[in-house]
Amino acid sequence: MTQDEQKRAAAQAAIQHIPTGCVVGVGTGSTANYFIDELSNIKHKIDGAVASSEATAQRLRGHGIEVIDLNSIDALPVYVDGTDEITEHLAMIKGGGGALTREKIVAAVAKKFICIADQGKLVPVLGKFPLPVEVIPMARGYVAREITRLGGEPVLRQGFITDNGNIILDVHGLQILNPVELETALNQITGVVTNGLFAKRGADVLLLGLDTGTRTIV
Ligand code: 5RP
Repeated sequence: MTQDEQKRAAAQAAIQHIPTGCVVGVGTGSTANYFIDELSNIKHKIDGAVASSEATAQRLRGHGIEVIDLNSIDALPVYVDGTDEITEHLAMIKGGGGALTREKIVAAVAKKFICIADQGKLVPVLGKFPLPVEVIPMARGYVAREITRLGGEPVLRQGFITDNGNIILDVHGLQILNPVELETALNQITGVVTNGLFAKRGADVLLLGLDTGTRTIV
């Protein structure tokens, strides 16, 4: 199977995990887009979706799925999203598409986080994929210096502004052996909105598209 076929297979498998009559949290990126396509086939069985980005909201509406404001609901049974890297312990690097902050908010509210991915995303150690950090624009220089002190090499994502009006620093050169510690340390730098480590709140289930089908890791 190609990488795209693996993504689609994982997205199809996620549909089995969607309870009838609920609001579904929906992530951002090419794998999440496959999930949206699949979700449209069961749209009559759900109450709508919470989007983790403007792009996802637009795609959901394009498929006739109602987009619901997260503030108008008290609970979210399930959130389905892709990842840039994930370990067997279900800690992730996310934010390759720049939607990390809203993704982290939706993940925080969700009871169950289902990660869907092609097999290339499963790694023994996080960090080969540059870690995205969303930063308030006026803090860019300060945050970059602090990240360098922590051992990373921050690079400004050129020509990119997040849905929240901020910039992204992509941090290279990390080998993340303690993702919970690094997630906490980065979030304590003044001017950081959030970082793309999803370790304190990782995934609950990984549906991994393989050449031979889909592997489930819990
Ligand atoms: C967006 C994300 C995506 O989940 C991540 O970048 C994976 O993308 P894709 O499914 O296109 O490989 O975190 O901010």
